Amino acid sequence: MGELPDWSLFRLLRDPGGRGGLDLHLPAHGRGRGLAPALRSLLRRPPGSWDLPELPAFGGPLEPEGAVAEAQAACAALLGAERCWFGVNGASGLLQAALLALAPPGSCVLLPRNLHRSLLHACVLGRIEPLLFDLPFDPLTGLWLPPTTAHLERVLAAAAPYRPEAVVLLDPTYQGLAADLPALVALIHAHGGHGLPVLVDQAHGDGAALAAGADLVVLSLQKAGGGLAQSAALLAQGSRNEPARLERSLLWLQTSSPSALLLASTAAAFAHGRSDAGQRQRRRAMARATRLRERLERLGFPLVANHDPLRLVLATGPLGIRGTEADGWLLERGVVAELPEPGALTFCLGLAPPRALERRLPRCLLDLNRQLGGPPLPLFARPPLPLVAVPDLDLGLAWRSPLERVPLANAAGRVAAEPLCPYPPGIPLLIPGERIDGDRAAWLADQRALWPGQIADTVSVVASAVGGVDGAVDDPSQSG
Ligand SMILES: Cc1ncc(COP(=O)(O)O)c(C=O)c1O
Repeated sequence: MGELPDWSLFRLLRDPGGRGGLDLHLPAHGRGRGLAPALRSLLRRPPGSWDLPELPAFGGPLEPEGAVAEAQAACAALLGAERCWFGVNGASGLLQAALLALAPPGSCVLLPRNLHRSLLHACVLGRIEPLLFDLPFDPLTGLWLPPTTAHLERVLAAAAPYRPEAVVLLDPTYQGLAADLPALVALIHAHGGHGLPVLVDQAHGDGAALAAGADLVVLSLQKAGGGLAQSAALLAQGSRNEPARLERSLLWLQTSSPSALLLASTAAAFAHGRSDAGQRQRRRAMARATRLRERLERLGFPLVANHDPLRLVLATGPLGIRGTEADGWLLERGVVAELPEPGALTFCLGLAPPRALERRLPRCLLDLNRQLGGPPLPLFARPPLPLVAVPDLDLGLAWRSPLERVPLANAAGRVAAEPLCPYPPGIPLLIPGERIDGDRAAWLADQRALWPGQIADTVSVVASAVGGVDGAVDDPSQSG
């Protein structure tokens, strides 16, 4: 121990939360309790013995032969995909590779407003124009909701003049809200006669998007399975994607030294998740989660009705408490939630929930309500966004332009130069290239109060000296 410098990084890793904390955050394996058993036994081997390069027998995610190729093929079969690639840069890296493969430079893709920011990064890298579509909104919690088929039909109609190359869906959401995915995918596949490819960001899901017909699916094994952080997989099926293009974009974005441990983590998490033992583990966790939920509801706590029992979402607005405020209060008492938002607090129970969960969480929430509760918060204002919108200025151009910071109050009419993205959940409230109109500026000022410490009172805009900024891109829907 003496050899380590006394830096907090090492101290925190040795004793991450002190004793007696209630960890209800990701990774879903809960500090190792829910790790896939094969991975646990691998990690018990002498430290570092599993840290290997792409030795000939191993190969790598893009090699046709070798142990990794064999595991990828086995996982594709387990999940019902035609192809599977493991990734070591999280769902982020694989979402980027998938988008680059689907959309050539200069084309446009339909992305949901609650997209993860990694997709925006792919748009910059690939010179792809993001066509952002608005989503249904819940004023009680301030959460974006999954689209209905009627909503998506309107989006597709409004987007048609822009001729998108592909559509991205996020399902389930961070808070475990799910759409009728088979119906949405069928709608997109029928769009305009020839249909469009669908990429589903299932970072919080289990691969069910494949059975729903999605062409490409990205999974994160630390969010919904028993894998280590950064282990992820891209799954492909059908004829609306080209494996050679996917491999080319993976080559551009992935490291040339993928960690054998992280690759094995993805394989182990898939194999365990589909095994009898893995299914039993999940059923046990879900049964505990369901009982806890019923108990909290009997105690009068408003919980968001979602589709994943392992994501417990407290609607804090009706209690008169901001989710961010509740999070800070609980943190001081050793309860670590995953996702604080203005009107909700999401707890990730994980595959092996902590033993003290049922005893401590209800008690802590009762104390929280006694100390901070009050009259319900006002309803949240719907973001003032059009049904579909392209940025006024090219996303990459805006992001790399000289910028200046202006007070939010003076931002109306200016073009954003940087995303405004509270963390978590990493969903941008504003993206580079978007022109901030008066309603948006007022809404962002309100958001500032709702995300304490996360949104500055100034915003980065493209410097006024940059030529051509005021020339909005042509709107094909307005042309004859
Ligand atoms: C919906 C969604 N997609 C993708 C990601 C990126 O996942 P990762 O952190 O594994 O790269 C996240 C991360 O929170 C997410 O919430």
